[in-house]
Amino acid sequence: MKILIVGGGGREHAIAQALKRSKRAPELFCAPGNAGIGEIAECVPIGAMEFEKLAEFAIRKQIDLTVVGMDDPLAGGIVDVFEQKGLRAFGPRKNAAIIEASKAFSKDLMKKYGIPTASYETFQDAAKAKAYLETAPYPIVLKADGLALGKGVLICNTKEEALQGVSSIMEEKQFGDAGNRLVIEEFMTGREVSVLAFVDGKHIKTMASAQDHKRAGDGDTGLNTGGMGTFSPSPFYTKEIEEYCSSHIFLPTVAAMEKEGRPFRGVLYFGLMLTENGPKVLEYNARFGDPEAQVILPRLKTDLVDVMEACIDGTLDRIELEFDEKAAVCVVVASGGYPVSYKKGYPIQGLDYFQDKTDEFCFHAGTKAGEGGEILTNGGRVLGVTALGADLKEARKNAYEAVKHVSFQDCFYRNDIGKAINEA
Ligand code: AMP
Ligand code: GLY
Repeated sequence: MKILIVGGGGREHAIAQALKRSKRAPELFCAPGNAGIGEIAECVPIGAMEFEKLAEFAIRKQIDLTVVGMDDPLAGGIVDVFEQKGLRAFGPRKNAAIIEASKAFSKDLMKKYGIPTASYETFQDAAKAKAYLETAPYPIVLKADGLALGKGVLICNTKEEALQGVSSIMEEKQFGDAGNRLVIEEFMTGREVSVLAFVDGKHIKTMASAQDHKRAGDGDTGLNTGGMGTFSPSPFYTKEIEEYCSSHIFLPTVAAMEKEGRPFRGVLYFGLMLTENGPKVLEYNARFGDPEAQVILPRLKTDLVDVMEACIDGTLDRIELEFDEKAAVCVVVASGGYPVSYKKGYPIQGLDYFQDKTDEFCFHAGTKAGEGGEILTNGGRVLGVTALGADLKEARKNAYEAVKHVSFQDCFYRNDIGKAINEA
């Protein structure tokens, strides 16, 4: 069996590794991939948005299954293009990926189907949004409608900040066309939990829970990033909360998408906030989280190829999803200056340490192979070091031991990934 993975970050490395464990021993290709993925897959120099070239490659190589890891190609309709050419692809079609690609769409969906979320208003006109802010309660949350690399959300403590936010999103177009529409939303407080699920259009199987750390610095200080580290499972996601979410959020969302004529097939990611008034949806993503995949997939015991094929074929109800009892913690190692500006091309030391380890993994995010065979930094988030452990405390200890083995010039990581587990 031949599988093509579309993407080239830590998430795609984790997906590649999980696919590699399949009993079907697939031959893996990845476009564009990175140096770490290149050790288990053949990297192909085609960009994730070059749908025609990707499809042509898939036809030429007789690829049996294409797995799309990233949000942009999904939102752009890569799965539709593949299906039109008779190719099998894992991920939602464009009309379902919109659940992530338009916040206005997802908020309206939740409102229509009574799925708990923050109250909100949508605006297409900056003057009207500003008028609304005159009498709104503070803090308040502004969200650019479209995809903005996870950065299109502003939490504003004062009216002045919010007015400035409307100007930068809607008038100055700080996030480009993503700011053509704006959602203004009630500010909620509580713990955040991510729950990822496989969906086949009708059926849903949830994976283990996880929590990300979005800010660049210890103690949740500094700028928002793509994610600086994760742990799984979340000790705050109890059985009782799970049951509530299942009946009030997960199943209703899948049914709503089907009813709207937008059946969702792929990974549906529920970003939840556990508020005083029960769990509410912060956002949906139409794919694995990055770095959530790096703590969830190493724990997956079920054959990932079987699960993905069942999602495409609508037979997910026949799959038993099993996770390892062990907990996992992932610490992201980033380039100094990330998420603003940083240098690339520094050699990375210590990667050999992970070679024969079974419970410690070094997922590559921004890396590339140098001319002399050395591995160089090639992005803001460079590595994701994941370790398993009997419980979260042990996994955390193991991850921080393991991360000490790798280094490059000006590297940094957060020291408090998973610290919150001590409060559970
Ligand atoms: P999102 O991209 O919608 O997940 O937003 C990014 C982050 O902003 C979330 O992980 C939350 O920490 C925060 N956030 C988003 N919406 C709200 C809200 N309504 N109330 C409080 N915090 C929020
Ligand atoms: N780590 C959050 C995301 O992938 O959106």
